Amino acid sequence: MAIIKSLILAAGLLTASTALSPAGIGNTAQKGTTSLTQVHNPRFVPNGPLELARTLRKYGAPLPRDLKAAVKRARKARNQKRAENEGADDGDADENDRGSVQNSPKLYDVEYLMPVSLGTPSQQLNLDLDTGSSDLWVFSTLLKESMVNGQTLYNPNASTTSDKMEGYTWKITYGDQSYSSGDVYIDTVTIGDLTVSTQAVEAAKVVSEEFTADSDNDGLVGLGFGIINTVQPYKQKTFFEKAMPGLDSPVFTADLKAGAPGRYNFGYIDDDAYSGNITYVPVNSTDGFWRWVSPGFQVGSAGSFNSTRIHGIADTGTTLLLLPDSVCDAFYSQIASAEYEPSQGGYTFECGDPTVPDFYFGTANGQMIRIPGSYMSYSKTDTGSSRCFGGMQSDSGVGFTIWGDVALKAAFVVFDQGSEQLGWAEKTL
Ligand SMILES: *[C@@H]1O[C@H](CO)[C@@H](O)[C@H](O)[C@H]1NC(C)=O
Ligand SMILES: *[C@@H]1O[C@H](CO)[C@@H](O)[C@H](O)[C@H]1NC(C)=O
Ligand SMILES: *[C@@H]1O[C@H](CO)[C@@H](O)[C@H](O)[C@H]1NC(C)=O
Ligand SMILES: *[C@@H]1O[C@H](CO)[C@@H](O)[C@H](O)[C@H]1NC(C)=O
Repeated sequence: MAIIKSLILAAGLLTASTALSPAGIGNTAQKGTTSLTQVHNPRFVPNGPLELARTLRKYGAPLPRDLKAAVKRARKARNQKRAENEGADDGDADENDRGSVQNSPKLYDVEYLMPVSLGTPSQQLNLDLDTGSSDLWVFSTLLKESMVNGQTLYNPNASTTSDKMEGYTWKITYGDQSYSSGDVYIDTVTIGDLTVSTQAVEAAKVVSEEFTADSDNDGLVGLGFGIINTVQPYKQKTFFEKAMPGLDSPVFTADLKAGAPGRYNFGYIDDDAYSGNITYVPVNSTDGFWRWVSPGFQVGSAGSFNSTRIHGIADTGTTLLLLPDSVCDAFYSQIASAEYEPSQGGYTFECGDPTVPDFYFGTANGQMIRIPGSYMSYSKTDTGSSRCFGGMQSDSGVGFTIWGDVALKAAFVVFDQGSEQLGWAEKTL
């Protein structure tokens, strides 16, 4: 049986070279490192209820009835808008679009994407680097056309380096029964300058309508721990786990930004990217996540630190910050116009309300990370509305806090998989 031939033969060959861009980093000319910047999605339109629902689904939490209704309305409005836009595009692009899903307009819903190369010759897909999951899965040519909604598809047949792992499958199931599943190929994957020549690439064969409709991007690069990889009969290593032995240091860092593309570095810590010291906290990876305990929080610079342990995970694949109801209450009670708005399924407030405070969360050794109040305006609730959907929402039903991008943007974050710890540092915001 040739089943896992490629796995056995391939010892995780890794080519790594000097860090790319920008000036400062290139000078250090290290080996086994890479640095890359996200690209902005010009079509991005933020939608609070859709984001919140996506995260609750991801972590198996039931959607509250309010939120379900809000999501339904949001999807409908968005699809109408898209239909109009695509109608307008048709004049120019008709010939290219016809019969080719690859050429249809991009409909991504995430603001920043990471270009990733798969196969030989390389096929470029825009993937989401997601520390809250551990599968590298992509929309693929195995999907029926009706399941595709503008995504770029990985075509293993067009790659001379792809090798099907016979008998291997994968399946990701979310709490609300939405799912994606498919076959597994070994192929070359390159992110920045890092190439893993024997990566398990999970090619989607079926995706449920939620995945098609909420087409975030072309797929995910899971950067959680391999223990929750879904490939059967044997779990596969994540991209980072494959790349790790060839890196200078077994770490990657996330330097996400508000209103600008963020940067991920692999294999090193850029000392110019943060200020002060990096404070490390232990990670409990038992359930596959970057799980850690924050010692507490503070609302506003004049507030007092509330020492209450907050159990949560650092998740680059979640946009919002989901915290316990009691913390949300403590925060929103300080905003004059804030309320839980049932028609939105979440907390909202008047955009530009001057009473929105900064929010601080503790890490360790007395360090606090400050999230500016301005980060808490996630999106307008409706076109033309004066209300904003809050960047902080309830984690109720999830069972733990999710430190999504709203929080991660406020810090320079080290994901140290070698010693299973998270490093937090302040930076210029
Ligand atoms: C690859 O080509 C074969 C033979 O034409 C076809 O059966 C299969 O579905 C293709 N696979 C993909 C992923 O497109
Ligand atoms: C950083 O760490 C060093 C060495 O432990 C310490 O002397 C210094 O005070 C720290 N700086 C800050 C800003 O905490
Ligand atoms: C780590 O997490 C697991 C599962 O959540 C838990 O059972 C275990 O007690 C935790 N370990 C530590 C050291 O906290
Ligand atoms: C601190 O936070 C906890 C949990 O959010 C809350 O129950 C408690 O009332 C808070 N304490 C103070 C003094 O605000």
